Amino acid sequence: MFDAVIVGAGAAGLFCAARAGQRGLRVLLVDHADKVAEKIRISGGGRCNFTNRDLDVRAPHRHFVGANPQFCRSALSRFTPADFIALMDRHGIAHHEKHKGQLFADRSAEDIIAMLLAECAAGGVQRWQPCRIGNIAFSASNADGESAGSYQIETDRGTVTARSLVIATGGLSIPKIGATDFGYRLARQFGLPLVERSPGLVPLTFDGAGWQPYAQLAGLALPVEISASAATGSKKERMTFHEDLLFTHRGLSGPAVLQISSYWTPGTPLTINLAPQVDLEAELLAAKARSRKLIANELCQWLPARLADAWVQQDAAWQRPIDQASDKALVQLAHRLSRWEITPTGTEGYKKAEVTLGGVDTKELSQQTMECKSQPGLYFIGEVVDITGWLGGYNFQWAWASAHACAQAL
Ligand code: FDA
Repeated sequence: MFDAVIVGAGAAGLFCAARAGQRGLRVLLVDHADKVAEKIRISGGGRCNFTNRDLDVRAPHRHFVGANPQFCRSALSRFTPADFIALMDRHGIAHHEKHKGQLFADRSAEDIIAMLLAECAAGGVQRWQPCRIGNIAFSASNADGESAGSYQIETDRGTVTARSLVIATGGLSIPKIGATDFGYRLARQFGLPLVERSPGLVPLTFDGAGWQPYAQLAGLALPVEISASAATGSKKERMTFHEDLLFTHRGLSGPAVLQISSYWTPGTPLTINLAPQVDLEAELLAAKARSRKLIANELCQWLPARLADAWVQQDAAWQRPIDQASDKALVQLAHRLSRWEITPTGTEGYKKAEVTLGGVDTKELSQQTMECKSQPGLYFIGEVVDITGWLGGYNFQWAWASAHACAQAL
C-alpha cells in the first residue's frame, strides 16, 4: 500500500512526488511516456523559463486565467518564485533573467529535470515509466470503518493500492509528446465538473481575401500593443499586452499574440497598434510639411520596411510622395496602422498551443490542498486544473506551487 500514487511525471508530478517523499511518505510516480518531463525539456527554447520574478501573489488575476484566478493565491503564496530559485541555487543551477521577470536556466532545461529527479531520489520515490494506467476504483472505507478509503489503480505492472491519488497529467497541448485527456476523464468518473477546454498561448490563424495583403510578411517581427475584449469570469474587460508580434504563413504569432490568445473569444476582433511608440497621425502630418519622400519611405522611421511597403499597397492614396497626399488619406493611414482591427478565423490548435485553458473546476477543489471536496484522497495539480498562467514562467510556477500545496497535505 502506497501513501500516494501520482499519475504524470511532468513538472507538477515530479515536484509533488519529491516533496511528499521527503516528508517520509511512500510514493509511486507513474507516467505512460517513454521520457520523463518532456515539456520541461522543450520549454523556453530548451532552457525552461521556470518561474517569473514579477509574480504578485496578492493579485493572481494579473497573471493567471481561469473561472476563478483567486483560487491559486493560497498555493502561490506558500511556494513562491523565490522558493524555487532557492532550490535551483542549492543544486548549483545557474540562471538568468531575460525579459519582464522571466527566469531561464543558463545551460539547459535538462539541469532542471535532473534536479527534480535528484529530489525524488532523496525522497525515495518509486517511478514506473513507461507504465500504462487502466481502471481506477475507490473503496470508501475498510470493514471497521477506520480508514478514509483507498484507491486501487490497475497498471500494466500490476494493481497498486494507495491512500491518496494525485492527478498531474497536464493539459492537451502537444499530443505527440504524451498529452492526453486522462485527468479530465478521471475527474468525470468521480463526478467533478470541468470548465470547457481550449488551446491557450497559441498562434492565431486568418484565411481568405482579408489576409492576402499580409501573407507575404511571414517571418517579420515588431513590437506592438495588442488588445482584445475578454470575458474574464462573469465580467467583460479589455486586455492589453505590449510585446512582439510575429507574422507567420498562416497568421500571427509571437509573445503578443500568444498572450492575447488566452483571452480571445472566437468571432471577435483583435486591435493592434503597429507603431505604439509614436503618435503616427501627428508624425505623418508633420512629415507632409517638410518631406517629399514616398509615404512608404517615411513610414520606415517607425515600421519595418517590408510592413510599410505591404501596407501602402492597400490604397492608391498612400502610394505617392507624402507632400502630395491629402490630410484625410494620412489620417486614415495613421488610424489603420495604430488601430488595426482584424478577426482571427481560428487558432493553430493543441499541436502548437503551449497550454490548455479550462480544466478541472476549481469550485470542487480545496485551494489549500488541491483535494476534491467531494472525493476524499483525490487531488488535482498543475495544468489539469482550470488555472492557466501567462507566458513567461507562470505556468511552471503554478505547477510547483500546486504540487507543493498538495504534498504538504498528503
Ligand atoms: P506536464 O504536461 O508537464 O506533465 C504531464 C505528464 O502527464 C506528462 O509527463 C505526460 O506524459 C503524463 N501523462 C499524460 N497522460 C497520461 C496518462 N494517460 N497516463 C500516464 N501519464 C500521463 N511554461 C512555463 O512556465 N515556462 C515555459 O518556458 C514554458 N514553455 C513551454 C513550451 C512548450 C512548447 C509547451 C508545450 C509548454 C510550455 N510551458 C511553459 C507550459 C508548461 O510546460 C506546462 O504548463 C507544464 O508543463 C504543466 O505541468 P504539469 O505537470 O501539469 O503537466
